[in-house]
Amino acid sequence: MKYRHALVRFFYVHIVKKIFFLQDPERVHDRMVRMSVYIGKNQLLRKLSAYFFCYTNPMLGQQIKGIYFSNPVGLAAGFDKDGYVYPVLESVGFGFSEIGTITHSAYEGNPTPRLYRLPRSRAIVVNYGLKNEGATRIIDRIKTYRKTIPCIVSIGKTNCSSTVDETAGITDYVRGLEVCKGVAHIDAYEINISCPNTFGGEPFTTSEKLEKLLQAIVKSRSDKPLILKMPINITWDMHRELLDVARKYKVWGVNIGNLNKDRSDPTIQEKIPEDIRGSVSGKPTWERSNELISRTYAYCGSEMVIIGTGGIFCAEDAYEKIKRGASLVQMITGMIYEGPQVVGEINYGLVQLLKADGYTSVRDAIGAYHRY
Ligand SMILES: Cc1cc2nc3c(=O)[nH]c(=O)nc-3n(C[C@H](O)[C@H](O)[C@H](O)COP(=O)(O)O)c2cc1C
Repeated sequence: MKYRHALVRFFYVHIVKKIFFLQDPERVHDRMVRMSVYIGKNQLLRKLSAYFFCYTNPMLGQQIKGIYFSNPVGLAAGFDKDGYVYPVLESVGFGFSEIGTITHSAYEGNPTPRLYRLPRSRAIVVNYGLKNEGATRIIDRIKTYRKTIPCIVSIGKTNCSSTVDETAGITDYVRGLEVCKGVAHIDAYEINISCPNTFGGEPFTTSEKLEKLLQAIVKSRSDKPLILKMPINITWDMHRELLDVARKYKVWGVNIGNLNKDRSDPTIQEKIPEDIRGSVSGKPTWERSNELISRTYAYCGSEMVIIGTGGIFCAEDAYEKIKRGASLVQMITGMIYEGPQVVGEINYGLVQLLKADGYTSVRDAIGAYHRY
């Protein structure tokens, strides 16, 4: 660990986090977003942030289907819901960002509380229900930014009763995509078919319905690569059927995966109060996402780019997902529990792990478990 990372870690874990964890999680999150906006606008603060947080090394860089990623660690969907945070993310050390999930129409969010911490499980119960300001406002904001790291926009279906109908739901996804078309800042679209906390649940997680959705999206001539955000509470057979549809429609990659809907999962150590609604992030997503990553890589090989998401708290966690087959990884909860310097720590740690295994590039480690 770099000296400057150790300094920030000490300060975050022993002081800042203790204060944060006494307060309402959504308020803390909103304050963090406001602070990011402030830092993002100030060049000096961005440079200071880069000094304390970033770690760069050419071993971590890779070109994936025409997009250059300076390191494999990205911010997962849900932190930068409305695209306010993007300008600061490069200086925090992220290799790519994800904005959203955005939807065609705005949604004020499910009733509060929408976030609930489970410290012993190193997890958060999330029930935002795709709260966002709506595609037009968010995309207009993104257009004003200087382009830095690659940017994925996550697109979902507006959370309201009128999009529960299948055709209306598909139309809503396509209208959301239309708003994003032609925006140079966006490198790829992630189609979120797995948000658990919405009207009508997850209607596009069967192969037949996913096929209808992808058909409509392809017909609308999406101008950027497509990624699917996968649920993790489905069997391998169901997941494999979704992969078959994704391959048929030349989907670029899959993000494995979303929140854990199973609140009785044995990795959840606290009893979640009845009145707390939502699904679980962090460590309780770790095993399920890892298993699906391994099986997806074994099934599709390097044809399908895998983004490994769920329960990453340190370099070893990120490396595990990479060796199982992920080309890129994403995180949110680990950053909340460990501090923003964790991104630089992970990148630094990855370089040490790659060297220890005799690799000269992160590319060489992708899917390593499948070669022995
Ligand atoms: C506060 C919060 C909000 C989230 N919102 C979204 C979202 O809008 N869209 C989405 O696809 N996933 C969302 N997620 C899921 C994350 O993108 C990620 O898949 C999951 O949290 C597992 O990663 P983690 O353990 O690193 O947090 C959210 C997660 C959290 C913690």
